[in-house]
Amino acid sequence: MARRKIVAGNWKMNMTPSQAVALCAELKDLVKSDSVDVVYCVPAIDIVPVVEAVKGTNVKVGAENMYFEEKGAYTGEISAAMLKDAGVEFVIIGHSERRDYFKEDDALLNKKVAKAFEAGLTPILCCGETLEQREMGVTMDWIRLQIKSDLAGITADQVKSMVIAYEPIWAIGTGKTATTEQAEEVCKGIRECIAEMYDAATADAVRIQYGGSVNAGNAAELFAQPDIDGGLVGGASLKADFGKIVNY
Ligand code: PGA
Repeated sequence: MARRKIVAGNWKMNMTPSQAVALCAELKDLVKSDSVDVVYCVPAIDIVPVVEAVKGTNVKVGAENMYFEEKGAYTGEISAAMLKDAGVEFVIIGHSERRDYFKEDDALLNKKVAKAFEAGLTPILCCGETLEQREMGVTMDWIRLQIKSDLAGITADQVKSMVIAYEPIWAIGTGKTATTEQAEEVCKGIRECIAEMYDAATADAVRIQYGGSVNAGNAAELFAQPDIDGGLVGGASLKADFGKIVNY
């Protein structure tokens, strides 16, 4: 089965609402594509203006995080229902910056993945190893543990519809991209893990992105790999280059 490529920008903590609207206008024609899904994952405060700004285009909007509770006394948090109502379709869950700086663990992320599905959002679940783990040779063990824990209780049909982003932590924002071989090896390993947990059809359907210093120069080679179905792009998603990545 041919999987449709998906290229998502992760804006992180960049772009005020007015800057966000200006960026959408700048990128509008550059990110046009009939063959690739394009998503902007934006800061919570930018969601409403960005949903408005991309209306009538091929761009879909994602959030960078959400909380798993339905509603209530969780000051500062944003629920899946709020995202859905605002027009969000995707949500990044378990980005390494959230795991590291905000101490999000796999038990929490598992609840977030389940809640996202319940609300009708598509999770982009992130996983990835540190440089130390890679040097110790435990990359795939670590990633399998993340995937198995974060997807506990999630059904095969749900997994078929979701996105998994492999992002080696040492390659994020460092300009140091994983080699094509390293990226493909782990994305293939994730697909094998999904086949073991579910079945071949689920492994064949789930889309797996590579993330970590993706740019206009390396996107084509990365996305040509058999198990890499697009990218999660940080720094390069904030400039015109993002159009070149989408149209790699
Ligand atoms: P980067 O970030 O492209 O700036 O390395 C990727 C990410 O963190 O999703």
